[in-house]
Amino acid sequence: MKIEEFQKKFGIIGKSHEIRDLVDIAMQVAQSDISVLITGESGVGKEIFAQAIHGFSRRANKELVSVNCGAIPEGILESELFGHKKGSFTGSTEDRKGYFEVADGGTLFLDEIAEMPLTTQVKLLRVLETQEFMRLGSETVTKVDVRIIAATNKDLQREVDSKKFRNDLYFRLKAVSLNIPPLRERRGDILDLAPLFIKNYSNNNRRTPPQITHEAEELLANYNWPGNIRELKNVIETSIALNRTGTLDVDSFIPLLTEKRADDELRNLPVHLNRSAESLDREMIYRALIEIKKDLNDLKQIADKNQNDINNSAISQSMNEVVPLEEVEKRAILNAINFTKYNRRRAAQMLGISERTLYRKLKDYGIE
Ligand SMILES: Nc1ncnc2c1ncn2[C@@H]1O[C@H](COP(=O)(O)OP(=O)(O)OP(=O)(O)O)[C@@H](O)[C@H]1O
Ligand SMILES: [Mg+2]
Repeated sequence: MKIEEFQKKFGIIGKSHEIRDLVDIAMQVAQSDISVLITGESGVGKEIFAQAIHGFSRRANKELVSVNCGAIPEGILESELFGHKKGSFTGSTEDRKGYFEVADGGTLFLDEIAEMPLTTQVKLLRVLETQEFMRLGSETVTKVDVRIIAATNKDLQREVDSKKFRNDLYFRLKAVSLNIPPLRERRGDILDLAPLFIKNYSNNNRRTPPQITHEAEELLANYNWPGNIRELKNVIETSIALNRTGTLDVDSFIPLLTEKRADDELRNLPVHLNRSAESLDREMIYRALIEIKKDLNDLKQIADKNQNDINNSAISQSMNEVVPLEEVEKRAILNAINFTKYNRRRAAQMLGISERTLYRKLKDYGIE
């Protein structure tokens, strides 16, 4: 199969040499049973690569089981992975298969592997070496044929240095690693991804796909995308949902871009598209617009703060101000996620909840 065919089959967009090189490696390792470690910032496409590797392997007709190690409470992670025997701990009233057995013959995708507790890491290493394990509370050995793909947005070497991750397991996993670079380091892919997201979202929502102006394309191509492809997708979907004119222009996007230094970055970045003098003029104009937009936002924040102070000083009498707690929580979570540019660890800290709780809530509220 050619690289282009593979990308089409698994929906991996991008003509940058970074993506093509990664696809090349993915295609080669897919055929073997060797473990793969996929690293990269949040939203770069780790999961889509894991799916492609599984889908291109001899295991494709068996299960790909995804486990988010950061989302499962530490206390039950081992029983989830390895299963348990009835009565092995309070509440275990039945024998239960773990994900390793469910994935037998297929692939186990261990997402957020850096969040795996050290004790579980020991057990995982043993399974990787022997393909054998014991259900919790059982004395008989279970044998499985499972391929492991692990992913993380952390620097595992640093986790090893700070003793949060076992060196031997890291060594074993990193034999084949795919490091997916952030979108800002392969800007050429942005304008391949954007039209596709516009088309897909419009089709799924039975809308005519809006046009996008050249200036808006330039803005997208030059923006830093701290939340990577997920952020690009979200921004495009929101811009279409809010669009009334049938045309996406610079103004459709600027309010949705969270990166505060967007304009400075734009100023310092090389120009990525062929542009005429006219388009440079236009660029000056939209930079000025960014400036104005920022000032407006600052003003709005001051106004909001004043309003808040007023609200807080008076006892609210109006029904309109009573919001269901769930709504308040959802908004707080969305704000934290946006503010931290999809850094879930920081978002959890800001919200004063554990990362695991945040994961659960993101899922409950259907926030990706
Ligand atoms: N190269 C790509 N082509 C098309 N869509 C992509 C590509 N990379 C990522 N996406 C899409 O972007 C979104 C985020 O990708 P994905 O979930 O794979 O990221 P991730 O690296 O696993 O993120 P996180 O670390 O936050 O879990 C998904 O909707 C995915 O389909
Ligand atoms: Mg992921």
